[in-house]
Amino acid sequence: MKTITLHINGSARAVPAGITVAAALRRCDATLFGQTVYGTARDVFCGMGQCQACRVRIDGQDEALACMRLVTEGMRVETQV
Ligand code: FES
Repeated sequence: MKTITLHINGSARAVPAGITVAAALRRCDATLFGQTVYGTARDVFCGMGQCQACRVRIDGQDEALACMRLVTEGMRVETQV
C-alpha cells in the first residue's frame, strides 16, 4: 500500500494514497473536524458533499469539503474551529 504525507494542523502524518481527506482525518483522529456554532463536535455525516459538516481548510482554501477531496502528497489540512 502506497502512503503519502499529509500535514494535519501542522503535524506530518502518513496516510494511504487514494483516500479522501475525510477518511484520512478519521484515520488519524476522529475529533479533528472542529465544532458547530453550538459547540458540538462536527464529523462526517453524508460523505457525499451535501451536508457541509466536514468543512476544513485545504492548502489555504477555506470551506473545503473533506469528503470530496482526495489526499495528495504534501497537502496541508487545517480544521476550522
Ligand atoms: S460529510 Fe457531508 S459534505 Fe462532507
